Amino acid sequence: MSTSPDYPGMVPHARQHSATVDGIRQLARDTYAIRLWQPELARTIVPGQFLMLRPAAGSDPLLGRAFALYDVYSDRGDPRGVELGYVVVGKLTSLMTDWQPGVSVLVWGPLGNGFPVPAAKRLLCVAGGIGQTPFLGVAREALGLQSYGNADRRLRSPTNSVTLCYGVRSADLAFGLKEFRLPRVKVHVATDDGTLGHHGLVTDLLCSQLETQTDDTHVYCCGPEAMMKAVGEICIAEGVPCWLSLETPMACGFGACFSCVTRVRVGDDWDYRRTCVEGPVFPADRLLL
Ligand code: FES
Repeated sequence: MSTSPDYPGMVPHARQHSATVDGIRQLARDTYAIRLWQPELARTIVPGQFLMLRPAAGSDPLLGRAFALYDVYSDRGDPRGVELGYVVVGKLTSLMTDWQPGVSVLVWGPLGNGFPVPAAKRLLCVAGGIGQTPFLGVAREALGLQSYGNADRRLRSPTNSVTLCYGVRSADLAFGLKEFRLPRVKVHVATDDGTLGHHGLVTDLLCSQLETQTDDTHVYCCGPEAMMKAVGEICIAEGVPCWLSLETPMACGFGACFSCVTRVRVGDDWDYRRTCVEGPVFPADRLLL
């Protein structure tokens, strides 16, 4: 297996940090956002990147778990910490929900490549479930409302409009809709049971968006693999550039264990790439899902 990078690798400032829990808020049923006070991380992380997180005290759980950036929070304009989104599934996330402000944690990050700096006039974000997590930051950056990362990562010109197509099982699991009430942002929701928005698939929403316009449109997508495969295929058929952020399970998060590999096209052939360092964001036309 080759690991020669034809995707951007782990950013050089990824390292272990001590951080402090600054608060936890419930976003929807079983869905939370945790704030971690860590100014250095807040200055360097970009939407689509993630952290590995574990408690500073004790050894249970021993291994960290990957969490995606929801947003960065600031104090008088200075980035102070990161907010991560999560659904309660398993031991660590069950413990996290009881953490109080001041609890010490260890984080590795920022990890992964993140989404590219938005560069089209129109950005469609297609999300499934907790895969919606990176898109608040993506939307803010695309519209020029907030910058992320260092001076190398700067928007050339703000995107004219951002549309979030958000698929979720039911209304009580839908989160973040108030936070997307931003100028030049439209939100369309699809639910499996019809309790909110369109009763059906998020790909129905994407197809109706692409019917109106495909010129200078880019698609960013994150969610379950079957959904991303469908989104990638639709975009390739329509000739719309699309990037998929894979939610591959990860053990180490920094390239050592090869538990997170995915198949990508390399010339006329294919090879494995580690999602944690060469992804999690890949151009849809390079992936073999
Ligand atoms: Fe270990 Fe990616 S999670 S190499």
